[in-house]
Amino acid sequence: MTTGAPDGEVARRIDELRSLVAYHNDRYHRLDDPEIPDADFDALVRELRALEATQPAPATPARRTATSQVGAPPSALFAPVVHPVPMMSLDNAFGPEELRAWGERLVRQVPAPVAFACELKIDGLALSLVYEHGRLVRAATRGDGVTGEDVTANVATIAAIPGVLAGAPSDLPELLEVRGEAYMSLDAFRALNERQAAAGLKAFANPRNAAAGSLRQKDATVTAGRELSFWAYQVGEVLPGAGGRIPDALSRTHSGALAWLADRGLPVNPERRVVASLEEALAFCRHWEEHRHDLAYEIDGAVVKVDDLALQRRLGATAHAPRWAIAYKFPPEERSTSLLDIRVSIGRTGRATPFAVLAPVLVGGSTVSLATLHNEDQVRAKDLRPGDTVVVRKAGDVIPEVVRPVPDDAHRARRPWTFPSTCPSCGAPLVRLPGESDTFCTNLDCPAQRVARIAHFASRPAMDIEGLGEQRVELLVSRGILADVADLYAFTAETFAGIEGFADVSIANLLAAIDASRSRPLHRLLVGLGIRHLGPAGSLAMARELGSLEAIAGAGEERLAAIDGVGPVIASSVAAWFSSPVNQALVDRLAGAGLTLTEPGWSGRDGTDGTDPEGAGGTDPTATGADPQGGVWRGRSIVVTGTLPGMTRDEAEAAVLARGGRSPGSVSARTWAVVAGESPGAAKITRARELGIPVVDADGFAAMLTTGELPDRVEGAPSEPPGS
Ligand code: IVH
Repeated sequence: MTTGAPDGEVARRIDELRSLVAYHNDRYHRLDDPEIPDADFDALVRELRALEATQPAPATPARRTATSQVGAPPSALFAPVVHPVPMMSLDNAFGPEELRAWGERLVRQVPAPVAFACELKIDGLALSLVYEHGRLVRAATRGDGVTGEDVTANVATIAAIPGVLAGAPSDLPELLEVRGEAYMSLDAFRALNERQAAAGLKAFANPRNAAAGSLRQKDATVTAGRELSFWAYQVGEVLPGAGGRIPDALSRTHSGALAWLADRGLPVNPERRVVASLEEALAFCRHWEEHRHDLAYEIDGAVVKVDDLALQRRLGATAHAPRWAIAYKFPPEERSTSLLDIRVSIGRTGRATPFAVLAPVLVGGSTVSLATLHNEDQVRAKDLRPGDTVVVRKAGDVIPEVVRPVPDDAHRARRPWTFPSTCPSCGAPLVRLPGESDTFCTNLDCPAQRVARIAHFASRPAMDIEGLGEQRVELLVSRGILADVADLYAFTAETFAGIEGFADVSIANLLAAIDASRSRPLHRLLVGLGIRHLGPAGSLAMARELGSLEAIAGAGEERLAAIDGVGPVIASSVAAWFSSPVNQALVDRLAGAGLTLTEPGWSGRDGTDGTDPEGAGGTDPTATGADPQGGVWRGRSIVVTGTLPGMTRDEAEAAVLARGGRSPGSVSARTWAVVAGESPGAAKITRARELGIPVVDADGFAAMLTTGELPDRVEGAPSEPPGS
């Protein structure tokens, strides 16, 4: 391999990388307080390995330390423990190609077919547990792989780890070393960080650090107060029992050994599976890559192991990792990047929201270049300063988040960011009311607010005017053609004469879309008005209860607050909105433009007349709110998981809401039914089964939407996810 760089430059970079790797290795393993995301650390090690490979042997001591060290030397806080069999690391495969390449190397060395044991790669810290005659006598961390730290007293406080193994002592080996991962569940991690915050202490960066920090405590009572868990994933050293025999199960297959450990009372992760081909192993990895957030704990990949223990011995190991196993690493959910700027955007209510402008970074499966920073206090709490290197996190469907700056000298040298005092759009002063976290532009004529209000009115959950996105609204506002939402209904083809981006066809389509929006039901119009605090659920509740815009406008705060699902905050905001003469004039103009100001299907208090309010079965999401069955699911909770054909998750949830039900994100004893589409969340299905809650498939859900009842056959749960 050649780098194209002069030798001196390569040598300098190698030196630099070695000290960086050593520094970050120490922060991660010894201090349990990493500064950079794991993916960044992996990238440094990879770069170092690649550059070292271009240099002539022999390896210097520094080289050995930097690239083959798998942890940190034991801390002086704990007695050292020399592992009888070194605790190795795993080689990584970043993606399917690297996994296949590993498989191809393997079959060149051992005769096919090979069975693979597939497991989750738990993001915690490795532990070695030694049982003598079935009794736990020692627990140690991995340390540097050769020498670990004696954490027996700490481990004795972990309820999940048995002090005594199940089964007759005569059937147990004289000595059994079990290896596995200590971890902290997400619930325990959140609770711990809440307690840390309440005590004014620093939050843990992630569950792995929290687990490591909780276990590596001089005072074991601290560990006892932290909720640690454990999954066993490997048998280490085994010495035969009195009969001189090692149980067969421990000497044949890895999967058999894990089953034996589970029978002895050790926690073994249930999401494991033996497969007959590498492609099936890859399917397991991909499944969990997609479903990692269904688990109650963090994983950073999957592990694929040769199941046959005799084959494992034949394959052996390199200096730091076995050849018979590989870690399939998932794309990182945390990466670092440059915070180019912090700007402020003005929303439809005038709220000024700071957001981060980032050097684009691929994280959590998508490229992120902007991220909301929520409000002034959040920026201050994180101490973000433009120019910083920052850690960005994007986990699953969750919106991207700037977690923290990397606290280097350059960060400390920069000036803290301050919230602007004037609106970036209209120049009016920005105001933050005492006791509130939000800052507002109070100028109702502010162009940015105008654009945001109109774009919101036209958006899908509101009036759904196709072809009227934010960019077009901005253009029309800047041309002085559009000042408020009522102006839309006076548009004609001539309005757009000479405006670029509006061809005849697109003008005709836009006018048709505006016209179609006149027949949206009242609750959609209410959403479109963009009244602060009033969302789709509150809009629907008010429209259902009072039936007309006139009735809502005249109802008064107390009456509104009494509506189920409304409450005092929304009621006060709605009443204030309708009391403004500007808004009253807007409503009059909308009425004059022929919009629907009543809730179709309403026939008096709490009543419906059973008609189809959307006309000929409209396709918009809340058309499902075109509720032929009134509140048939009132008080019922229906969880939707997975993809349903022909319906987005939002639409399915809106359909539940429209029938008076609730659609929370998790399954509990109060759940009435779980709707499982394609690739449902494994944890939700498992939980539903544990609790005996009916699981219905997409067809069953379609039937429920028509009848309001559960279908006769409810076992139509989807096929088993791999590993279950
Ligand atoms: S097997 C010889 N299986 O990942 C290596 N490791 O990056 C034996 N880990 O040191 C490890 N889940 O701490 C194995 N199911 C699993 C695992 C797992 C998490 C950790 C373990 C290991 C590290 C390597």
